[in-house]
Amino acid sequence: MLGNFEYCNPTKLYFGNDSLKYLKGELEKYGDNVLLVYGGGSIKKNGIYDDVTAILKEAGKNITEVSGVMSNPTIQKLREGVAIARENKSEFILAVGGGSVIDYSKALSVSVNEPEDPWEKYYIRFEEPTCETLPVGAILTMVGTGSEMNAGAVITNPEEKLKIGHVFADEKIMPRFSILNPKYTLTLPQYQMVSGIYDIFNHICEQYFSGDDDNTSDYISEGLMRSVIHSSRIAVKDPQNYEARSNLMWTATWALNTLISRGKTTDWMVHMLGQSAGACTNAAHGMTLAAVSLPYYRRIMNDGLPKFARFAENVWGISPDEKTEKELAEAGLRAMENWMKEIGVVMNLTDLGADESMIPDLVNGTIILDGGYRKIDKDEIAEIFRESL
Ligand code: NZQ
Ligand code: ZN
Repeated sequence: MLGNFEYCNPTKLYFGNDSLKYLKGELEKYGDNVLLVYGGGSIKKNGIYDDVTAILKEAGKNITEVSGVMSNPTIQKLREGVAIARENKSEFILAVGGGSVIDYSKALSVSVNEPEDPWEKYYIRFEEPTCETLPVGAILTMVGTGSEMNAGAVITNPEEKLKIGHVFADEKIMPRFSILNPKYTLTLPQYQMVSGIYDIFNHICEQYFSGDDDNTSDYISEGLMRSVIHSSRIAVKDPQNYEARSNLMWTATWALNTLISRGKTTDWMVHMLGQSAGACTNAAHGMTLAAVSLPYYRRIMNDGLPKFARFAENVWGISPDEKTEKELAEAGLRAMENWMKEIGVVMNLTDLGADESMIPDLVNGTIILDGGYRKIDKDEIAEIFRESL
């Protein structure tokens, strides 16, 4: 572990089947004007909305709602939410939903008191908030993004065909608390569950496939990946299996809550490619990652061969006997490909609605980062997208 770093994660977690009972105590810490943020209606169908609003009323809160936060929330929707929060003098934001709702709530938190338009300030210039921010609490209903315990907020600008994430530097943008009840995820459609599973796995890959030093983060990552693989196989066959779903919920949180990136440069190119694909197709986040992953990893494998070989052995249990390092690394990616097919992720961008004509926009929307084993250029990005179609 050769890097220098600081570590602070203040999000308080309540985990398990009775975790909602802690909401009332948390609400007491914040102002009376609560902005309740949720998505397209799943929480009304499965009863979470009724349970949460009953607790809000019992706590004597004035509730204002922002509903209809879509998957891949847009800048337009954010501007609408800012107006509602200002008009109602919101003091606390309660996000009830998946990554989209929680990301959106964090973006609201930094925008309500900010006179400038959030797109320019936070998503083009990547500035940190200079205004007073609103505290956010989360009740998670979809597993994958890790938004429940990090400071990331991804916003899409459909007009500009850009989907951009800002990971805020100040940990007060992280949810102050998150309620993680695995039971809430049991109503998720299989497609969303599988999308989330791949999102978890890829978050770990993005951090694992970087650096050459002996780093505790990599050992934690290998354990998390093995847990995801194990639980995903159970959950795909038996989606109502609480134990498997609860493990997936917990691994998702630890996959992207700042822990396993400590001391690492981290790659994140699959996310940059996937987010651009998301901006052009509006597809489910995890599926966009799945569609571009193998062409990207096969391209950089030789630049990080020892780590890809270690991945094969320690994550997929492949024996190194009678194999060159390269053969072992290739076998690891083949095992990953087989698992992806087994759990049913979308393996190409064509199935997500992309085609050859979109390549220029896809390339234009991809931010190039250099924390992985090799920095790729725009020509290679175009090739990866072509190979992903
Ligand atoms: O809108 P509703 O009706 O609630 O339906 C949602 C939505 O259609 C549904 N859903 C959620 N919980 C449900 C449920 N349906 C039935 N039962 C439940 N319990 O699932 C659909 C997808 O939800 P969404 O929140 O969009 O998915 P996800 O959690 O994957 O979030 C995706 C967003 O998070 C960003 C993505 O880019 C994308 O914009 N990410 C955020 C990150 C972060 N904060 O660190 C990192 C990630 O890499 C990711 O980029
Ligand atoms: Zn992700």
